[in-house]
Amino acid sequence: MGKDVIIACDFNSAEETFAFLDKFTGKKPFVKIGMELFYAEGPQIVREIKKRGHKIFLDLKLHDIPNTVMKAMKVLSSLDIDMVNIHAAGTIAMMEAALTGLTREDGTRPLLIAVTQLTSTSEDRMQSELLINSSLEKTVMHYAENAKKAGLDGVVCSPMESEAVHNVCGKDFVTVTPGIRFADSAKDDQIRITTPAKAKEIGSDYIVVGRPITQADDPVKAYERCVEEFVG
Ligand code: C5P
Repeated sequence: MGKDVIIACDFNSAEETFAFLDKFTGKKPFVKIGMELFYAEGPQIVREIKKRGHKIFLDLKLHDIPNTVMKAMKVLSSLDIDMVNIHAAGTIAMMEAALTGLTREDGTRPLLIAVTQLTSTSEDRMQSELLINSSLEKTVMHYAENAKKAGLDGVVCSPMESEAVHNVCGKDFVTVTPGIRFADSAKDDQIRITTPAKAKEIGSDYIVVGRPITQADDPVKAYERCVEEFVG
C-alpha cells in the first residue's frame, strides 16, 4: 500500500483552495475535499482539482439506505476520484451497495473506506445515547471487521488504532488517520494526536493533515516535513 500524506483542504471556496494549491509549484499533493468545500462549490471543484493532477479523497461520509448510497456512489465514481468514504453504521448491506455503485464499467473503482465511530463520539455518549452496549474500542474494531466483510479497502481511524485494525483485518486493510500534529505545533481541537513519524511507526497507511499545513507560514515546507517524517 502506497504510504502518502493527504492534505485536508478545509476551505469554503474554490478561490481560497486554488490560492493554497498554487503555492505547490511542481508538486501535486493528495488532497482531501470535505463537505464544506464540496457543498459550497459542487462537483466542479472536484473536476478542477483533478484536472490540475491531484489525487482526491472525497470525504462525504455517506449514510443512507443501500439503494440511495449505491446511486450516489455511481455519480461520485464518474468524477474520477481516488478515495471516498461511508459510515460503517449503515450496515454491511449498505457498504456492499456502495461498492457496487462505485465500480466503473471497466472494473476500476476508487478506494472505499469506512468511518467506524467518529472521534467526536465519546464512549459515554455512544453507550447512553446510541445504546451501544460495548466499549468504544470493541465497537471500532467490530465496525472495521464489518467493513472488511463487505469488501471495503479500509477505515478512517485514530493512528493509535492502526495497529489493532491491521491485526484484526490484515495488513493490507488500509488505515487513514487524521489527528496528526508536529511535536512542536498547536494541538487545535484535536485530542489524541500523533506526529507523522509516530504514525509511520504504528503503521498508518495514509495520514490526513489539515491545519499544521494549511495554517503554516510556509505550507509547502510543512507538507515536505510531513512527507519526510511519514514516508521517509
Ligand atoms: O486540521 P486538522 O489536521 O485537525 O484536520 C483533520 C481533518 O481530518 C479535518 O478535515 C477533519 O474533519 C478530519 N477528521 C478528523 N477526525 C476524524 C475524522 C476526520 O480530524 N475522526
